[in-house]
Amino acid sequence: MTTDRLRLKPYSVRHAPAILDYYLRNRAHLERWEPERPPEFYALAYHLRECERAESAARNGEYVRFAAFARDGDALIALVNLWNIRRGVIHAAIIGYSADEAHGGNGYATEAAGAVVGYAFDVLKLHRVETSYHPLNERSGRVLRKLGFAVEGYARDYLYMNGRWNDAILVSRINPQWRPG
Ligand SMILES: CC(C)(COP(=O)(O)OP(=O)(O)OC[C@H]1O[C@@H](n2cnc3c(N)ncnc32)[C@H](O)[C@@H]1OP(=O)(O)O)[C@@H](O)C(=O)NCCC(=O)NCCS
Repeated sequence: MTTDRLRLKPYSVRHAPAILDYYLRNRAHLERWEPERPPEFYALAYHLRECERAESAARNGEYVRFAAFARDGDALIALVNLWNIRRGVIHAAIIGYSADEAHGGNGYATEAAGAVVGYAFDVLKLHRVETSYHPLNERSGRVLRKLGFAVEGYARDYLYMNGRWNDAILVSRINPQWRPG
């Protein structure tokens, strides 16, 4: 998928070195808002395995992970995931994202996550994309508002991060074009 400034590619093992480098340079930036990482997370073997797993999960319709690269170079700018794809009577997934700190505030997360919402609706034919964010994570709240996500609730002790349970704001976006079949 391409947007004005980004090329989004589903995870493949050839992206593992760039993904590791992204997590290494953004370690402090991400750790406040993401799950605690085990020490092996910061080694190439972990990301080779994860990329392999993601390739097979995408084939099986379980989840899809995208790496968003700058169109005018090779820089890895953002990561966007569609987790927990559910069918049956739900047709929904959970979106997660992060963006490189060095490029922050330039609309990259919004551009990348917006493209993945489009993919969820137009390609995967999902009816709903949902997520949650920490009440103090104003940047993430802005990204979601810009993308048209609506607040649905407030969950107490919802996310285990930084060694404790954190409250979260629950949001979703509905696909008004969804049709059965
Ligand atoms: C949240 C995150 C994805 C935003 O990435 P980004 O590329 O900077 O996002 P965008 O530029 O598209 O939008 C950021 C918005 O936050 C605003 N912003 C930037 N710094 C801010 C701050 N300190 N406080 C409040 N808003 C801020 C920007 O102005 C922009 O809003 P605007 O376009 O309405 O002015 C990125 O900071 C990140 O990776 N954070 C850590 C991981 C994370 O929180 N993931 C989401 C978990 S729910």
